[in-house]
Amino acid sequence: MTNLTASEPSEILELRCIGCGLRNLNPGHRFRCSACADLLEIVYPGWTRSDGMRATQFSPGALKALWQTRRKSLAPMDQSGVWRFRELLPGFPDEAGVISLREGNTPLYALPSCARAAGVEQLVAKHQGMNPTGSFKDTGMTVAASAARRAGFRWVACASTGNTSASMAAYAARAQMRSLVLIPEGKVSWGKLSQALDYGAITIELKTDFDGCLQILNEVVDRRPVYLLNSVNPYRIEGQKTAAIELLEQLDWQSPDHIIVPGGNLGHAAALGKALRELEELNFITRLPKVSIIQAEGANPLVRTMRETGGRKLISVQAETAASAIRIGSPASWKKAVRVLEQTGGTTEEVSEVDIAWAKAQIGADGVGCEPASAVTLAGLKKLVKGGFVKPGESVVLMLTGHLLKDPEFTLKFHRGELFAGRARGREGEMLASHERAPIVLEARADAVLSVLQQAEDTSEG
Ligand code: F0G
Repeated sequence: MTNLTASEPSEILELRCIGCGLRNLNPGHRFRCSACADLLEIVYPGWTRSDGMRATQFSPGALKALWQTRRKSLAPMDQSGVWRFRELLPGFPDEAGVISLREGNTPLYALPSCARAAGVEQLVAKHQGMNPTGSFKDTGMTVAASAARRAGFRWVACASTGNTSASMAAYAARAQMRSLVLIPEGKVSWGKLSQALDYGAITIELKTDFDGCLQILNEVVDRRPVYLLNSVNPYRIEGQKTAAIELLEQLDWQSPDHIIVPGGNLGHAAALGKALRELEELNFITRLPKVSIIQAEGANPLVRTMRETGGRKLISVQAETAASAIRIGSPASWKKAVRVLEQTGGTTEEVSEVDIAWAKAQIGADGVGCEPASAVTLAGLKKLVKGGFVKPGESVVLMLTGHLLKDPEFTLKFHRGELFAGRARGREGEMLASHERAPIVLEARADAVLSVLQQAEDTSEG
């Protein structure tokens, strides 16, 4: 087995511990610091000169123009919305070594009725569900899977609530590597599970939760030459940075006031924060947006960590939420996320199951749609506006992380009124009912269809 960093020129890239700052030459199988076992992050010493000034090879204006030019290129690396920004990523001199599915390049959508519902004037969604396997995970996976292949691994593996496994399985298949998926039994949506199966992963459902799966996986990678592709892998974080870079490009490099993200294992928030920090340090932007992280009430370890310890000590929880992607009680990247909150001035918020389902239907009704975990962003925004943290005149970006089709069971249950059967009453029940659109079964007669049409027309006029 080759050393993970053997082919990475150290003057270009270093793996540094986020706790003690030690430069790790060999990160080990778990990507933890050899001295203090904290997480590692990739830093680029070449970006700063020995006198601490920014290196002159970075001209933000020239790079912004180059990245735009690449949009017209037919080269696979340029067509990837990740590798188009390769100057800010780990280097892969050999283009053939990069495993890409043309990830990234995800759209920004205005959400007019969600904006009205939340009480803000300017609201857009960056829809990362429009990635090749339907979630933001692809942006990190192209970088980390490429690193795995370059290091000579035959096997890659992850613990997952579903999307990481779908993404990893696809990239492994493209690279002709084998993949091993550990998921919590019965807690992964069928859409995601079926993706992993079709892309050829060995999929194991364990009788535990996500946090338990991650623990078992750590033991597996200690005992076999299997490359860990969870977001503790710092290469994944580097790729996931590009969502923020691309977002800023789409906003003509004008920072929004707020970026709102869902929080699970907290790699996503960590990556966005790292990107924004680097863009500011390198003078691509002059102001940091506030990054706020939203969790489900039943899976709220970061919210509690901030509230009860000011971000100093992780409060783990027994996680439970129907937004299964973020059903995580002991997030690996919590320290990185705390740093993002502190550096950008963002906050955390928790939202109820009813709020998540309602917000998801509202995002759908704007013609966009997303999976439940992504909808916590809108639910959280509503609370942040009510609480005064987000002002009505401020610009807000919601990071929608997964596609609507990832979890059709949740959507169908919602529209059939089965999601909270008997549990949501009064105003809450009425509010949900107003968004429910269960399929209507009729005799095959035009009259019957027309009368439903008339009824719908009357209700919308009324
Ligand atoms: N949204 C979706 C759709 C996700 O799949 C995840 C995480 C998150 C948000 C949270 O991102 O973990 O970086 O804070 N899914 C992981 C998985 C855990 O295994 O697919 P995070």
